[in-house]
Amino acid sequence: MRGKFITFEGGEGTGKSTQLKLLSEYLAKKGLKSIPTKEPGGTDTGQELRRILVTGDKDKFDATAEALLYFADRHIHMVQKVWPALERGEWVLSDRFADSTVAYQYYGYDKRVSREDLDCLYKIAVGNFKPDLTLILDIDPQVGLARSFKKADTMAVKELRFEGRELAFHQRLRNGFLEIAAQDPQRCVVLDADKSIEDLHKDIVDVITERFKF
Ligand code: TMP
Repeated sequence: MRGKFITFEGGEGTGKSTQLKLLSEYLAKKGLKSIPTKEPGGTDTGQELRRILVTGDKDKFDATAEALLYFADRHIHMVQKVWPALERGEWVLSDRFADSTVAYQYYGYDKRVSREDLDCLYKIAVGNFKPDLTLILDIDPQVGLARSFKKADTMAVKELRFEGRELAFHQRLRNGFLEIAAQDPQRCVVLDADKSIEDLHKDIVDVITERFKF
């Protein structure tokens, strides 16, 4: 049986990667193999694109160039990693997917890429395929950004290109993710990320258990 594709979304510093790891461990205990992955950077080529996308000056290129590069990363990710794993019956847990492009490159910017153009890029890169479930981790951007900057202190390469944008940008992203969830309530669940790691993990397990009936 084909595996499930679960995506984790949200602004900066929501704890997506921690929660993704915890869910992967939980699924392993239930006897389900899952692959943790991320966008950008889920493949070797994706890692090269990631460096271009998330480091350096925030204005080194615009939202259109970003959208094209994120979708290039996404297409490579789907073909080389996500679809083959799902075919093998494994679950794939992705730290970000296409909702991030809508939130950042559409809702975030004044000089945005249109929804029609993003839909068109989605069709080229991903076709009709969609995640089985999207967990949107929601937090006040000020709290999330503070977490992100703290984490970056311990990183050799500072991945802070988007953190450098103004608070209003991050507030628009947050509202964008909430609108995305409202537009697709079958697929998306919004979770309060301003909770302890353990409590948020419990909420995620509740959603998974209810959604996939195990
Ligand atoms: P990360 O820090 O959560 O790993 O994500 C990398 C950065 O890239 C983050 O600031 C969000 C941004 N991003 C976009 O702007 N558009 C996208 O499509 C994706 C996947 C990420």
